[in-house]
Amino acid sequence: MEENIKTILATLDDIVSKASSAFDAVNDLSELASLESLYLGKKSALSEIKKELSALEVDSKKIVGEKLNVVREVLEQKAREAKELLEAAKLAKQIEEDICDVTEVDIDGVYGHLHLVTQIRQELEDIFLGLGYEIAEGNEIESDWYNFTALNVDFDHPARTMQDSFYLDTGENGSILLRTHTSPVQVHLLERGQFPIYAICPGRVYRRDTADPRHLPVFHQIEGLVVDEGIGFADLRGTVEVSMQAIFGSETRTRLRPGYFPFTEPSAEFDITCVICKGEGCRTCGGQGWIELGGCGLVHPNVLSASNVDTDRYSGFAFGFGIDRLAIMRHNILDIRYLIENDIRFLSQF
Ligand code: DAH
Repeated sequence: MEENIKTILATLDDIVSKASSAFDAVNDLSELASLESLYLGKKSALSEIKKELSALEVDSKKIVGEKLNVVREVLEQKAREAKELLEAAKLAKQIEEDICDVTEVDIDGVYGHLHLVTQIRQELEDIFLGLGYEIAEGNEIESDWYNFTALNVDFDHPARTMQDSFYLDTGENGSILLRTHTSPVQVHLLERGQFPIYAICPGRVYRRDTADPRHLPVFHQIEGLVVDEGIGFADLRGTVEVSMQAIFGSETRTRLRPGYFPFTEPSAEFDITCVICKGEGCRTCGGQGWIELGGCGLVHPNVLSASNVDTDRYSGFAFGFGIDRLAIMRHNILDIRYLIENDIRFLSQF
């Protein structure tokens, strides 16, 4: 072998050993970039040797050329490994620095708290648990049967149209929707076939409404259902009175007015004395002294029969009202949309 070939091969071995130690010892990514340019760049010793290849004889060219490729591959691999290690270390350091102990007590004494709607929902749950009710879980996605048909809602009822309800693009066309009220939970409870039933179901409901000061397309309702032997209108009357006084204060009075809901007969709308003027008449209640809160009535026999309940033995009452609406009334909030705007200045008042 020509003497100068030996020298070149020895030089290449030397480069490998020096570069390997350098890549192993590299401390940061900018240092790595300099090393890459020093050992693999256009002006590196490797590139210089490559340029000299053309001057060599064919056999020597082959030997040096192959060795050059191997050396380049080894160094590139070294550089890749060094880069991976440095990046992993950088990420680990960043994670360590970004750690935020969410259990740490805020030294300024500024704590988060439950949203007003959640607070009221929990108050309502406590009131009804105290009266011996259970809290039922409903489904936010319902079929037409639970949301309408089993509740005695006519096929041509406006709520069933695409304009009023959010239908899902699944199942048979127009058969699955986001529940428009919490009343379908009545059907699930009746189907269970365990009596007596004393239950409430608070939860989210959906309607195709544009948000305005009195409406939200997604809001909360609470449903109540009692089915037992000998339940009559007086039981409903008393329950409305007691629960509304618990939530609005003992001076609050309630009244029931005739109303219409397909799932109750007779049906009523219930009002409470205005929380602002206590019944005197003011702007909030339009001078009436009363504000409308929800609907109620005796469970319609068709609803009981649809779930195979023995109507000779059992009767019941139901009621439902909006929790967000209750919130804005109790706190005299002028626009229901404030509840969902997440403005801390508003939320921190409650
Ligand atoms: N589901 C009715 C609505 O969304 C509210 C309602 C009225 C519920 C009367 C009831 C009831 O349980 O008896 O407007």
